[in-house]
Amino acid sequence: MLDRLAPQAPDALLALIKMHRDDPRTDKIDLGVGVYRTGQGDTPVFAAIKAAERRLVDEQDSKSYLGPEGDMGFVEALMPYVFGEANPTMGGRIEGMQTPGGTGAVRLATALAKAAGVTRVHMGTPSWPNHAQILADLDLEVAGFSHACPDGTADLDAVLSAIRGAGEGEAVLLHGCCHNPTGIDYTPEQWDAIAAALAESRALPIVDVAYQGLGHGMEEDAYGLRAVLAAVPEALVAYSCDKNFGLYRDRVGAFYVMAAEGGQLPAILSNAAALARANWSMPPDHGAAAVRLILRDPDLTAQWLDELDTMRTRMRQVRDRLAGAGTAGSVDLTPLGIQNGLFSVLPLSKDQIAALREDHAIYMAGSGRINVAGLTEANIDKFIRALAEVTA
Ligand code: LMR
Repeated sequence: MLDRLAPQAPDALLALIKMHRDDPRTDKIDLGVGVYRTGQGDTPVFAAIKAAERRLVDEQDSKSYLGPEGDMGFVEALMPYVFGEANPTMGGRIEGMQTPGGTGAVRLATALAKAAGVTRVHMGTPSWPNHAQILADLDLEVAGFSHACPDGTADLDAVLSAIRGAGEGEAVLLHGCCHNPTGIDYTPEQWDAIAAALAESRALPIVDVAYQGLGHGMEEDAYGLRAVLAAVPEALVAYSCDKNFGLYRDRVGAFYVMAAEGGQLPAILSNAAALARANWSMPPDHGAAAVRLILRDPDLTAQWLDELDTMRTRMRQVRDRLAGAGTAGSVDLTPLGIQNGLFSVLPLSKDQIAALREDHAIYMAGSGRINVAGLTEANIDKFIRALAEVTA
């Protein structure tokens, strides 16, 4: 029976990791999967995480099961950062649970939306490819709208008309900050307009926040999410700590729900717990426990925020450097200076992307997405030269 299964192509983005690893050229450049790299090209464990892990080894006295909600200390400690210190539960209307990474959170949010009656999800395109894969796996219909204008700014009209056209049984999936793959975020004024449109709409907002702190700062990057939550009666939030705590393979995420009334939360979360149990039973503990220890200790929190600042500053420097180069061949690099986070998309053809890989050992996603953190003092000139050569 199993021989009926047709072979599937490997995930294109994850396949790039292996292709880059297997390339023997010593001057190869990895601009593929979204991991932060230092100016030396490394992806080290945060010092704050190392310190928390040491404490965990000393103090953790059991690895017995927790439950489908995972580490609730972690889930709650994160809330002031996500929803704001002043009112982290929106008056008792927000609660959450831990998930295996941001992917688990997106899966749970969309599966719960489906269980509540959502059949159609409006989503800006391009988007993180796994959004579409998860929605397809759940048999949810996807209605795409354009995310970006050709000048490298966000297409506000498209998102507003998608929201205004969305009815009962529909959801709108938004990236909270550091849009993946374009790096093009809505401005605070645009978020206010989006929040106002959502307030008028019957559509359920689902906000994916996978890169908080990597754009302009933890508070600044939460502007859009908080504007939406302040305007609407209910919403779902998918959160990832994989990037802003550097915990990628430990899979640390959280799912939050804001209900119209606090009294609705137990029933809603019982559904989320049932979905989690059927999907992964309970999330992996280690990384979330380390984040909890950091967020409950002011010294470790300060150390973590400092490390996050260093990451953000370096990515901003790379972006400034690229934007300062102006153009490389036919590619205008200036919009990268106002974009945010790890990613931007370059207007390259499949052949040009292949030529960069084959002739210059430069690896990027097939969409033209680059991870700017893969560029360093040592390789950025080579990258700009190669770009000019393949697009000349
Ligand atoms: C990425 O987009 O590179 C990351 O979010 C990693 C992933 O899981 O796709």
